[in-house]
Amino acid sequence: MARKILEVVGLNKHFGGIYVTRDVDFEMSEGDQSAIIGPNGAGKTTFFNLLTGHHSPDSGRIVFDGQDITNWPPHTIARIGISRAFQVSNIFPRLTVMENVRSAVHSHLGVAMNMFTRANRVGIAETEEVVALCGLTDKLDVLAGRLSQGDKKKLELAIALANKPKLLFLDEPTAGMSRDETQETMNLVDRLNKDLGLTILFTEHDMSVVFSHARRVTLLHRGEIIVEGTPNAVRDNETAKQIYLGKQQI
Ligand SMILES: Nc1ncnc2c1ncn2[C@@H]1O[C@H](COP(=O)(O)OP(=O)(O)OP(=O)(O)O)[C@@H](O)[C@H]1O
Ligand SMILES: [Mg+2]
Repeated sequence: MARKILEVVGLNKHFGGIYVTRDVDFEMSEGDQSAIIGPNGAGKTTFFNLLTGHHSPDSGRIVFDGQDITNWPPHTIARIGISRAFQVSNIFPRLTVMENVRSAVHSHLGVAMNMFTRANRVGIAETEEVVALCGLTDKLDVLAGRLSQGDKKKLELAIALANKPKLLFLDEPTAGMSRDETQETMNLVDRLNKDLGLTILFTEHDMSVVFSHARRVTLLHRGEIIVEGTPNAVRDNETAKQIYLGKQQI
């Protein structure tokens, strides 16, 4: 059996008296590719924020790769191998693809930004490697702000991969994309999972994407896990249909 890479036990978080994460127990094994689904406001992004140290839980425990990381700050969590791509883009539009990824590589390598000069080769090989992996080699010198929606997401993935993570969280990776861009992005996600062995957890509102790219699905509603299982098991679950799936196109 694959090794457990993430274990969340009894996680709680409330904002102003409203529980946004309630008694959440959740696990991932190394190599999993799973999805978190649920209506707007269900608490999906908050869950990612808790797991990456952007919010502190009120109670509960988060164990990553055998280490208790509860209440660790985001940069320390990133350093030990958890990366995320945000629901709202975090790329620098006025920098090129190369510059965006290279600054993330530098941050991982602990290189100061003032060494970021043309003459300096630090981080170039690492940058080119992740850019190639994400299929952006021919766009290295393009300003990030000029990329298509699909290429922007590839760039965000490249930035997320700059710190060589073991676990990757993707918050709505295909939001705002055309069908072709969605397909291309999810194919890349599949490749990162299969070829690099990255453990991946993503949120997604398009159920056709969820059911064809996740091997496990967790339905969150008002901060609570309602149903969890294989795509087929969740699709056939009556509560899941009532709460969410009945309102979605599958
Ligand atoms: N920093 C915050 N302070 C107060 N309330 C918050 C904060 N962050 C999130 N919330 C609330 O927590 C609830 C869950 O929000 P969250 O963004 O986690 O949902 P979500 O499942 O990601 O939704 P969506 O599908 O729309 O992205 C919402 O009611 C939101 O208003
Ligand atoms: Mg969200």
